[in-house]
Amino acid sequence: MDLGLVGRTAVICASSDGLGRACATELARAGCTVVVNGRDVPKLEQTAEAIRTETGAQVIAIAADVSTHEGQDRLISAASQVDILVNNNAGPPFSDFRQIDQDALLAGLTMNMATPIRLVQRVIDDMVARQFGRIVNITSASVKMPLPGLDLSSGARAGLTGFLAGVARSVAYANVTINFLLPGSFDTNRLRSGQQALSARLGISPDEVAERDREAIPARRFGHPSEFGAACAFLCSDQAGYITGQSILIDGGTYPGIL
Ligand SMILES: NC(=O)c1ccc[n+]([C@@H]2O[C@H](COP(=O)([O-])OP(=O)(O)OC[C@H]3O[C@@H](n4cnc5c(N)ncnc54)[C@H](OP(=O)(O)O)[C@@H]3O)[C@@H](O)[C@H]2O)c1
Repeated sequence: MDLGLVGRTAVICASSDGLGRACATELARAGCTVVVNGRDVPKLEQTAEAIRTETGAQVIAIAADVSTHEGQDRLISAASQVDILVNNNAGPPFSDFRQIDQDALLAGLTMNMATPIRLVQRVIDDMVARQFGRIVNITSASVKMPLPGLDLSSGARAGLTGFLAGVARSVAYANVTINFLLPGSFDTNRLRSGQQALSARLGISPDEVAERDREAIPARRFGHPSEFGAACAFLCSDQAGYITGQSILIDGGTYPGIL
Protein backbone atom coordinates (compact mmCIF):
# COMPACT_ATOMS: atom_id res chain seq x y z
CA MET A 1 0.00 0.00 0.00
CA ASP A 2 1.39 3.40 -0.97
CA LEU A 3 0.98 5.54 2.15
CA GLY A 4 1.44 8.81 0.25
CA LEU A 5 4.37 9.83 2.44
CA VAL A 6 7.18 10.19 -0.09
CA GLY A 7 9.02 13.46 0.57
CA ARG A 8 7.49 14.02 4.02
CA THR A 9 9.70 14.69 7.04
CA ALA A 10 9.09 12.88 10.31
CA VAL A 11 10.57 13.57 13.75
CA ILE A 12 10.45 10.45 15.91
CA CYS A 13 11.42 11.10 19.53
CA ALA A 14 13.29 8.44 21.53
CA SER A 15 13.80 6.25 18.49
CA SER A 16 17.24 4.69 18.71
CA ASP A 17 15.65 1.46 19.96
CA GLY A 18 12.37 -0.35 20.57
CA LEU A 19 9.01 1.01 19.46
CA GLY A 20 10.35 4.43 18.43
CA ARG A 21 12.95 2.79 16.20
CA ALA A 22 10.27 0.60 14.61
CA CYS A 23 8.13 3.69 13.85
CA ALA A 24 11.15 5.47 12.32
CA THR A 25 11.98 2.42 10.19
CA GLU A 26 8.45 2.09 8.79
CA LEU A 27 8.18 5.83 8.09
CA ALA A 28 11.56 5.72 6.32
CA ARG A 29 10.37 2.71 4.31
CA ALA A 30 7.29 4.73 3.32
CA GLY A 31 9.52 7.44 1.83
CA CYS A 32 9.93 9.94 4.68
CA THR A 33 13.11 11.68 5.70
CA VAL A 34 13.36 10.72 9.37
CA VAL A 35 14.91 12.44 12.36
CA VAL A 36 15.87 9.81 14.92
CA ASN A 37 16.81 10.48 18.52
CA GLY A 38 18.31 8.98 21.65
CA ARG A 39 20.87 9.87 24.33
CA ASP A 40 23.42 7.10 23.78
CA VAL A 41 25.43 8.33 20.78
CA PRO A 42 26.92 5.02 19.50
CA LYS A 43 23.53 3.27 19.73
CA LEU A 44 21.84 6.18 17.92
CA GLU A 45 24.46 6.26 15.13
CA GLN A 46 24.15 2.50 14.68
CA THR A 47 20.37 2.73 14.40
CA ALA A 48 20.54 5.64 11.95
CA GLU A 49 22.93 3.69 9.72
CA ALA A 50 20.80 0.53 9.91
CA ILE A 51 17.68 2.46 8.84
CA ARG A 52 19.60 4.13 5.97
CA THR A 53 20.86 0.77 4.75
CA GLU A 54 17.50 -0.95 5.09
CA THR A 55 15.32 1.75 3.51
CA GLY A 56 17.58 4.06 1.49
CA ALA A 57 15.95 7.02 3.25
CA GLN A 58 17.66 10.16 4.51
CA VAL A 59 18.14 9.71 8.26
CA ILE A 60 19.20 12.56 10.56
CA ALA A 61 20.45 11.52 14.01
CA ILE A 62 20.02 13.93 16.92
CA ALA A 63 21.62 12.89 20.18
CA ALA A 64 19.62 14.70 22.86
CA ASP A 65 17.44 14.25 25.92
CA VAL A 66 13.94 14.87 24.56
CA SER A 67 12.70 15.91 28.01
CA THR A 68 14.84 19.07 27.92
CA HIS A 69 14.05 22.33 26.12
CA GLU A 70 17.46 22.18 24.48
CA GLY A 71 16.79 18.65 23.21
CA GLN A 72 13.38 19.68 21.88
CA ASP A 73 14.92 22.68 20.08
CA ARG A 74 17.54 20.52 18.42
CA LEU A 75 15.01 17.92 17.31
CA ILE A 76 12.63 20.44 15.76
CA SER A 77 15.33 22.47 14.06
CA ALA A 78 16.92 19.33 12.55
CA ALA A 79 13.96 19.05 10.17
CA SER A 80 13.36 21.60 7.41
CA GLN A 81 9.67 21.20 8.30
CA VAL A 82 7.89 18.74 10.55
CA ASP A 83 5.09 16.93 8.69
CA ILE A 84 4.94 14.07 11.18
CA LEU A 85 5.72 14.03 14.89
CA VAL A 86 5.92 10.78 16.84
CA ASN A 87 6.07 11.54 20.56
CA ASN A 88 7.88 8.95 22.61
CA ASN A 89 10.02 8.87 25.73
CA ALA A 90 11.10 6.53 28.48
CA GLY A 91 8.53 5.84 31.19
CA PRO A 92 8.88 6.41 34.96
CA PRO A 93 10.29 3.45 36.90
CA PHE A 94 8.05 0.89 38.57
CA SER A 95 7.41 2.12 42.13
CA ASP A 96 5.02 2.15 45.05
CA PHE A 97 2.96 5.34 44.69
CA ARG A 98 3.68 6.17 48.36
CA GLN A 99 7.39 6.46 47.58
CA ILE A 100 7.04 8.99 44.72
CA ASP A 101 8.37 12.31 46.03
CA GLN A 102 7.71 15.71 44.49
CA ASP A 103 10.81 15.62 42.25
CA ALA A 104 10.00 12.15 40.92
CA LEU A 105 6.37 13.19 40.38
CA LEU A 106 7.37 16.24 38.35
CA ALA A 107 9.97 14.23 36.40
CA GLY A 108 7.32 11.67 35.39
CA LEU A 109 4.86 14.37 34.36
CA THR A 110 7.62 16.09 32.38
CA MET A 111 8.57 12.91 30.51
CA ASN A 112 5.16 11.60 29.58
CA MET A 113 2.91 14.67 29.56
CA ALA A 114 4.69 18.04 29.37
CA THR A 115 7.34 17.01 26.83
CA PRO A 116 4.91 15.76 24.16
CA ILE A 117 2.65 18.77 24.76
CA ARG A 118 5.58 21.19 24.32
CA LEU A 119 6.52 19.49 21.05
CA VAL A 120 2.95 19.64 19.77
CA GLN A 121 2.87 23.36 20.58
CA ARG A 122 6.03 23.81 18.52
CA VAL A 123 4.83 22.10 15.33
CA ILE A 124 1.08 22.38 15.12
CA ASP A 125 0.57 25.86 13.66
CA ASP A 126 2.90 25.13 10.74
CA MET A 127 1.06 21.86 10.13
CA VAL A 128 -2.25 23.73 10.04
CA ALA A 129 -0.81 26.33 7.65
CA ARG A 130 0.40 23.56 5.30
CA GLN A 131 -2.89 21.61 5.61
CA PHE A 132 -1.08 18.41 6.52
CA GLY A 133 0.11 17.08 9.85
CA ARG A 134 0.20 13.74 11.63
CA ILE A 135 0.97 13.45 15.33
CA VAL A 136 1.19 10.03 16.96
CA ASN A 137 1.76 9.72 20.69
CA ILE A 138 3.15 6.46 22.00
CA THR A 139 1.43 6.01 25.36
CA SER A 140 0.58 2.65 26.95
CA ALA A 141 -2.19 0.09 27.40
CA SER A 142 -2.01 1.20 31.05
CA VAL A 143 -4.00 4.31 30.05
CA LYS A 144 -7.02 2.00 29.65
CA MET A 145 -5.95 -0.69 32.10
CA PRO A 146 -3.84 0.90 34.87
CA LEU A 147 -1.28 -1.31 36.60
CA PRO A 148 -0.32 -0.87 40.27
CA GLY A 149 3.30 0.31 40.40
CA LEU A 150 2.99 2.18 37.09
CA ASP A 151 0.63 4.79 38.55
CA LEU A 152 2.70 7.79 37.51
CA SER A 153 3.11 6.45 33.98
CA SER A 154 -0.63 5.74 33.66
CA GLY A 155 -1.60 9.11 35.16
CA ALA A 156 0.78 11.24 33.07
CA ARG A 157 -0.19 9.45 29.86
CA ALA A 158 -3.92 9.70 30.62
CA GLY A 159 -3.35 13.42 31.28
CA LEU A 160 -1.66 13.77 27.90
CA THR A 161 -4.56 11.96 26.22
CA GLY A 162 -7.09 14.29 27.82
CA PHE A 163 -5.07 17.41 27.04
CA LEU A 164 -4.62 16.58 23.37
CA ALA A 165 -8.18 15.30 22.86
CA GLY A 166 -9.49 18.86 22.59
CA VAL A 167 -6.49 20.00 20.55
CA ALA A 168 -7.13 17.18 18.04
CA ARG A 169 -10.67 18.42 17.41
CA SER A 170 -9.48 21.99 16.99
CA VAL A 171 -7.11 21.19 14.09
CA ALA A 172 -8.96 18.36 12.31
CA TYR A 173 -10.39 20.83 9.76
CA ALA A 174 -6.84 21.42 8.49
CA ASN A 175 -5.99 17.74 7.83
CA VAL A 176 -3.93 17.62 11.01
CA THR A 177 -4.54 14.52 13.12
CA ILE A 178 -3.49 13.58 16.64
CA ASN A 179 -3.76 9.97 17.75
CA PHE A 180 -2.46 7.69 20.50
CA LEU A 181 -0.97 4.23 20.10
CA LEU A 182 -1.26 2.11 23.25
CA PRO A 183 1.23 -0.77 23.35
CA GLY A 184 0.49 -3.85 25.42
CA SER A 185 3.58 -6.08 25.68
CA PHE A 186 6.12 -5.65 22.89
CA ASP A 187 9.40 -7.48 22.68
CA THR A 188 11.79 -4.60 23.40
CA ASN A 189 14.64 -3.98 25.85
CA ARG A 190 12.23 -2.22 28.16
CA LEU A 191 10.01 -5.30 28.32
CA ARG A 192 13.01 -7.55 28.93
CA SER A 193 14.43 -5.35 31.69
CA GLY A 194 11.00 -5.34 33.38
CA GLN A 195 11.03 -9.14 33.26
CA GLN A 196 14.52 -9.21 34.78
CA ALA A 197 13.42 -6.96 37.63
CA LEU A 198 10.31 -9.05 38.29
CA SER A 199 12.27 -12.30 38.19
CA ALA A 200 14.50 -11.00 41.01
CA ARG A 201 11.44 -10.01 43.05
CA LEU A 202 9.56 -13.29 42.48
CA GLY A 203 12.59 -15.57 42.71
CA ILE A 204 11.94 -17.20 39.32
CA SER A 205 13.95 -16.98 36.09
CA PRO A 206 13.33 -14.23 33.50
CA ASP A 207 12.26 -16.96 31.04
CA GLU A 208 9.62 -18.14 33.51
CA VAL A 209 8.37 -14.55 33.92
CA ALA A 210 8.20 -14.19 30.13
CA GLU A 211 6.33 -17.48 29.74
CA ARG A 212 3.84 -16.48 32.45
CA ASP A 213 3.30 -13.09 30.78
CA ARG A 214 2.85 -14.64 27.31
CA GLU A 215 0.23 -17.04 28.66
CA ALA A 216 -1.83 -14.06 29.90
CA ILE A 217 -2.05 -12.59 26.39
CA PRO A 218 -4.84 -13.97 24.17
CA ALA A 219 -2.42 -13.95 21.18
CA ARG A 220 0.01 -16.04 23.34
CA ARG A 221 2.98 -13.95 22.25
CA PHE A 222 4.57 -10.55 22.67
CA GLY A 223 4.09 -8.01 19.90
CA HIS A 224 6.87 -7.48 17.40
CA PRO A 225 8.02 -3.84 17.24
CA SER A 226 7.59 -3.91 13.43
CA GLU A 227 3.86 -4.52 13.93
CA PHE A 228 3.74 -1.38 16.04
CA GLY A 229 5.78 0.59 13.50
CA ALA A 230 3.43 -0.42 10.68
CA ALA A 231 0.38 0.80 12.63
CA CYS A 232 2.17 4.09 13.30
CA ALA A 233 3.04 4.52 9.61
CA PHE A 234 -0.58 3.93 8.63
CA LEU A 235 -1.82 6.55 11.12
CA CYS A 236 0.64 8.97 9.48
CA SER A 237 -0.51 8.13 5.97
CA ASP A 238 -2.45 10.30 3.58
CA GLN A 239 -5.31 7.79 3.83
CA ALA A 240 -5.64 8.19 7.64
CA GLY A 241 -6.74 11.84 7.56
CA TYR A 242 -10.20 10.98 8.94
CA ILE A 243 -8.86 9.20 12.05
CA THR A 244 -8.18 11.63 14.87
CA GLY A 245 -8.35 11.84 18.66
CA GLN A 246 -8.27 8.05 18.94
CA SER A 247 -6.51 5.80 21.44
CA ILE A 248 -5.67 2.60 19.61
CA LEU A 249 -4.66 -0.46 21.62
CA ILE A 250 -2.17 -2.90 20.13
CA ASP A 251 -2.07 -5.63 22.75
CA GLY A 252 -2.82 -9.05 21.25
CA GLY A 253 -6.34 -8.93 22.71
CA THR A 254 -5.36 -8.37 26.35
CA TYR A 255 -7.78 -5.52 27.06
CA PRO A 256 -11.03 -7.33 27.84
CA GLY A 257 -13.55 -4.58 27.10
CA ILE A 258 -15.38 -3.91 23.84
CA LEU A 259 -15.08 -0.09 23.92
N1 LIG B 1 7.56 -2.27 25.11
C1 LIG B 1 6.39 -2.37 25.66
O1 LIG B 1 5.83 -3.46 25.77
C2 LIG B 1 5.68 -1.13 26.19
C3 LIG B 1 4.42 -1.30 26.79
C4 LIG B 1 3.75 -0.17 27.27
C5 LIG B 1 4.32 1.08 27.17
N2 LIG B 1 5.56 1.20 26.59
C6 LIG B 1 6.12 2.54 26.52
O2 LIG B 1 6.56 2.83 25.20
C7 LIG B 1 7.72 3.68 25.26
C8 LIG B 1 8.84 3.03 24.46
O3 LIG B 1 9.14 1.78 25.03
P1 LIG B 1 10.20 0.76 24.39
O4 LIG B 1 9.80 -0.58 24.87
O5 LIG B 1 10.35 1.03 22.95
O6 LIG B 1 11.53 1.21 25.17
P2 LIG B 1 13.07 0.88 24.84
O7 LIG B 1 13.20 -0.35 24.00
O8 LIG B 1 13.75 0.94 26.15
O9 LIG B 1 13.54 2.13 23.93
C9 LIG B 1 13.51 3.40 24.47
C10 LIG B 1 14.16 4.37 23.47
O10 LIG B 1 13.97 5.69 23.97
C11 LIG B 1 15.24 6.34 24.06
N3 LIG B 1 15.14 7.30 25.16
C12 LIG B 1 14.83 7.04 26.45
N4 LIG B 1 14.81 8.17 27.17
C13 LIG B 1 15.12 9.18 26.31
C14 LIG B 1 15.26 10.58 26.45
N5 LIG B 1 15.08 11.20 27.63
N6 LIG B 1 15.57 11.33 25.36
C15 LIG B 1 15.74 10.73 24.15
N7 LIG B 1 15.62 9.40 23.96
C16 LIG B 1 15.32 8.63 25.04
C17 LIG B 1 16.23 5.21 24.29
O11 LIG B 1 17.56 5.56 23.95
P3 LIG B 1 18.59 6.16 25.05
O12 LIG B 1 18.40 5.35 26.29
O13 LIG B 1 19.94 6.00 24.41
O14 LIG B 1 18.22 7.59 25.23
C18 LIG B 1 15.66 4.17 23.33
O15 LIG B 1 16.01 4.46 22.01
C19 LIG B 1 8.05 3.85 26.74
O16 LIG B 1 7.47 5.04 27.23
C20 LIG B 1 7.37 2.66 27.39
O17 LIG B 1 7.03 2.91 28.74
C21 LIG B 1 6.24 0.13 26.11
